[in-house]
Amino acid sequence: MAVPPVNIASLKKMKLNGEAIACITAYDASFALTVDHAGADLVLVGDSLGMVIQGHDTTVPVTVDDVIYHTRNVSRGLHRAFLVADMPFMTYSDPNQALENAVRLMQEGGAMMIKLEGGEDQISIVEHLARHDIAVCAHLGLKPQSVHKIGGFRVQGREPKEAQKMIDNAKALQDAGADLVLLECVPNELGKSIKESLEVPVIGIGAGPFVDGQILVLYDILDITQGSTPKFVKNFMIDHDSPINAVKAYVDAVKTGKYPAAEHCFS
Ligand code: KIV
Repeated sequence: MAVPPVNIASLKKMKLNGEAIACITAYDASFALTVDHAGADLVLVGDSLGMVIQGHDTTVPVTVDDVIYHTRNVSRGLHRAFLVADMPFMTYSDPNQALENAVRLMQEGGAMMIKLEGGEDQISIVEHLARHDIAVCAHLGLKPQSVHKIGGFRVQGREPKEAQKMIDNAKALQDAGADLVLLECVPNELGKSIKESLEVPVIGIGAGPFVDGQILVLYDILDITQGSTPKFVKNFMIDHDSPINAVKAYVDAVKTGKYPAAEHCFS
């Protein structure tokens, strides 16, 4: 019997039922088939493709055309998982530009939701997209597109004032129409507070075990990434003999709460 595809309603239901949401990135049709078959609920065509596919040091050089190309390929491999595509750096600097690029990601790429790195300056943009019935994921915490402004990839929200601002921004983005929040590199307790403050699902990457779901970059799970990896990364190829079994182990570890463990978290 065909498995029904994941949609926003099923993701919200998973949050309400306390079922962890297993998310992963993918950039091509073959890996999309693999992660879909392994049971991932949500697949992100992240602008991390600038680093893991294109070999850049940051996500800044990625263009909308790049994300459309990879999203179109991923969409051909997915049958069940919900497909999200990243809005690259400076492609959503005003509401009309954001709308135009989001529509391209959906019409040309096949994305079901777009993700943008947000804060209070993006509230009007999220409002504009939501008014046009575009599903939006707001990415808070460490925002890789701002790496040159913040001076490196580091944990965010450790100071109480900064943490409170992130909670307020998350609520404001939800009220503006965001359907999902993604939190990157924040302490466990902040992840928990934001998850408890919101009705929409909160997906974490380095945001601790108390959020509604987890996401990792596929190439980190499969130990393809060269050099040092962030603390929250777990190599699932250890103990598994194939990519499909490694991704299945990741999905299972998220669903059963075995990932993230203490060593993958920030306090
Ligand atoms: O671009 C990406 O892959 C992301 C993940 C790190 C969540 O935004």
